[in-house]
Amino acid sequence: MAENNSPLDIDKISSLCKRRGFIFQSSEIYGGLASTWDYGPLGVELKRNVKEHWWNAMVWERDDMVGLDASILMHPDTWRASGHLESFTDPLVECNDCNRRYREDHIDTEVCPECSGELTEPRLFHLMFKTFMGPVEEDASIVYLRPETAQGIFVNFNNVINSTRKKLPFGIAQIGKSFRNEITTGNFIFRTREFEMMEIEYFVMPGEDEEIHDKWIQDCLSWYRDIGLDPENLRVRPHDEDELSHYAKATYDIEYRFPWGWGEIQGIANRTDYDLKSHMEMSGEKLTYFDDASGQHIIPYVIEPSSGVDRAVMALLVDAYNEEEITSASGKTETRVLLKLDPSISPVKVAVLPLSRNEKLTPLAKSVFDTLRKSNLIGGHIQYDDAQSIGRRYRRQDEIGTPLCVTVDFDSLDDNAVTIRERDTMEQTRVSLETLESELALKLKS
Ligand code: GAP
Repeated sequence: MAENNSPLDIDKISSLCKRRGFIFQSSEIYGGLASTWDYGPLGVELKRNVKEHWWNAMVWERDDMVGLDASILMHPDTWRASGHLESFTDPLVECNDCNRRYREDHIDTEVCPECSGELTEPRLFHLMFKTFMGPVEEDASIVYLRPETAQGIFVNFNNVINSTRKKLPFGIAQIGKSFRNEITTGNFIFRTREFEMMEIEYFVMPGEDEEIHDKWIQDCLSWYRDIGLDPENLRVRPHDEDELSHYAKATYDIEYRFPWGWGEIQGIANRTDYDLKSHMEMSGEKLTYFDDASGQHIIPYVIEPSSGVDRAVMALLVDAYNEEEITSASGKTETRVLLKLDPSISPVKVAVLPLSRNEKLTPLAKSVFDTLRKSNLIGGHIQYDDAQSIGRRYRRQDEIGTPLCVTVDFDSLDDNAVTIRERDTMEQTRVSLETLESELALKLKS
């Protein structure tokens, strides 16, 4: 991975995530379970925003897409046909001295990176989690936790075609959990064994695959820009021949510049007709498309944009994290930590803050809060906070990425106006209560 000069320490992000309720270590009271994470009250909202943004852009705003939600457990023949049972492996090497294990392609030394001990020859380590279905633990009842959501789409190809009458080119989108028994995990939520994917299988006429592949790369890049990632921190990298998955004719990764270097956030592969063909052979079912123009049954090619929800969240947190030196009213210099999240992604879009807890201010502030909560634009993405000083409350909202605070003060009782305070500039604007909702809408969209 390439060097990055960013001073950002990933521990700062993980401690902010814990402190403010974005992400917690899983099973923490039992000492935690390695590299598994739980999304807290703000994390779950952030993740939902990412998924909703993706679903809007990829399904609702397009005429050529439909959705699906297939089960995690699938018939074991699925994984025989897909090639995962045979080929879904990573090269494992182990240190003869300290017994640490590594993915051979993730280290760039011939010896153990930890203790310089001698490494074993690589052996292929299978990445699928195996379990048993039903009450008997025998070979006949083995099932696997899916390592990608894609196969749920391929096996439903006929069901979707028959129920929707979609014409080529068209795609099926799915968001769901996947599981991989990774040899090494790490970098917080970047590489874990349980993670969520947002995948599309886009079916095209053979021959049109390369052009459509290029188009998808551009569409996906734009989506990452739309959710607020800095274009300078995004790049597209083609896979070398020896990196390609067993099913791929060509793959391009969208990579993000993380503090530890460039890392994949999305793969966009040309899977050809590999999967439909393999499932046809294994199941005996015809998974073809009738092309009216040629009067032929054809097996479509597939372009697959496949992204990780958790990696998108990780990139968003890294991209949004900022520290600024500011001077307070009393002349003290302090560090302001803020998450400059795009308002469409921020878990809280507006916070309503009465200047103090007071029998006159509180009812007014509560009524402002209740009105805004009912607005379509803000909905549940709102907080009411009246604990501690106003300065501390602004800092708290900055740290969780709230773009706008609405402050209700004693003047509000007379002039029926409140102050909107902006996260990034700290600018304050006085607006009347009648226009508050439209002013907030303008600011959230600008
Ligand atoms: N169906 C295609 C496929 O599975 P992939 O490149 O192996 O392709 C797609 O995975 C995306 O899933 C990656 O770009 C990444 O964002 C995410 N992903 C893969 N393994 C992951 C892991 N161990 N932890 C978190 N996210 C992961």
